[in-house]
Amino acid sequence: MDLLRTRADLDSLEPRRRQDRPLVLVPTMGALHAGHLALVQRARELGDVVVSIFVNPTQFGPGEDFQSYPRDLERDLDLLRPLDVAAVFAPDVGDMYPREGGVTVEPGPAARGLCGADRPGHFRGVLTIVAKLFNLVRPDIAVFGRKDAQQCLVIAEMVRDLDLPVRVIDHPTVRESDGLAMSSRNAYLSTEARRRALGLSRSLQAARDALVGGERSVTVLRETIRAGLSSTDEVEYVELRTVNDLAVPTLAEGHLLLAVAARVEPARLIDNLVLNVDASGVRDAALLDDVEATR
Ligand code: PAF
Repeated sequence: MDLLRTRADLDSLEPRRRQDRPLVLVPTMGALHAGHLALVQRARELGDVVVSIFVNPTQFGPGEDFQSYPRDLERDLDLLRPLDVAAVFAPDVGDMYPREGGVTVEPGPAARGLCGADRPGHFRGVLTIVAKLFNLVRPDIAVFGRKDAQQCLVIAEMVRDLDLPVRVIDHPTVRESDGLAMSSRNAYLSTEARRRALGLSRSLQAARDALVGGERSVTVLRETIRAGLSSTDEVEYVELRTVNDLAVPTLAEGHLLLAVAARVEPARLIDNLVLNVDASGVRDAALLDDVEATR
């Protein structure tokens, strides 16, 4: 496993780019957990894997946790070594952003609402760094976690609209045994906060059960989710939207995203379910239809 610390080091990927096997990028901010490792394992099935580890300052807003975000490169490398990763790209901020105030990537409609409303500028920062990573690493495929559902849609939209030559895949959310979605920010939770955080996955599951039971009212389903969240925590949003356009449907039918965000202090947590709801029933679904720009 090669450790590439600068953009110049990425030249060492050139022989791999000339091979038949796809080059697959798994972009991360480090503080790796089993969810990230599942992305890497999926990527390994698809080709030669490059994992990027970079805590991207431009996607954090004022007062957010950029400074305190967990960083432990040695631990991350230890976790990746057994997974047959070709290279880890772990640049520093100065190498990725040599000057301030440069060109950024303006997100499209998928960034409106949900996390885009609560974190102004967040998706601009995400798209700017992801576009830079795509241009630097030049992967054939990129794998993202479905837990960040809106992020996946925003990136897929960029790939489509800017004709970026990369295929984007979303991988299912990995959960703890009690259902809590894995997140680097779970490390911030006290025992008591972690107990309350379980409300996110459990309330989404309650909405899924209601859908299985035949409930199709968007209002009732949103209320079901809200009722399952701790009243001590600030709920940022509870949404039921259609994929890919993130529109609010009249009835809960079709390809749906049920998404929730709450501040379970000191962490801001998100979770979601992606479902296909039709006459034959309710099934878990992928978010993206393997988005690929036309080459
Ligand atoms: O999901 C993340 O960890 C980040 O938003 C990403 C995609 C690595 C961009 O910094």
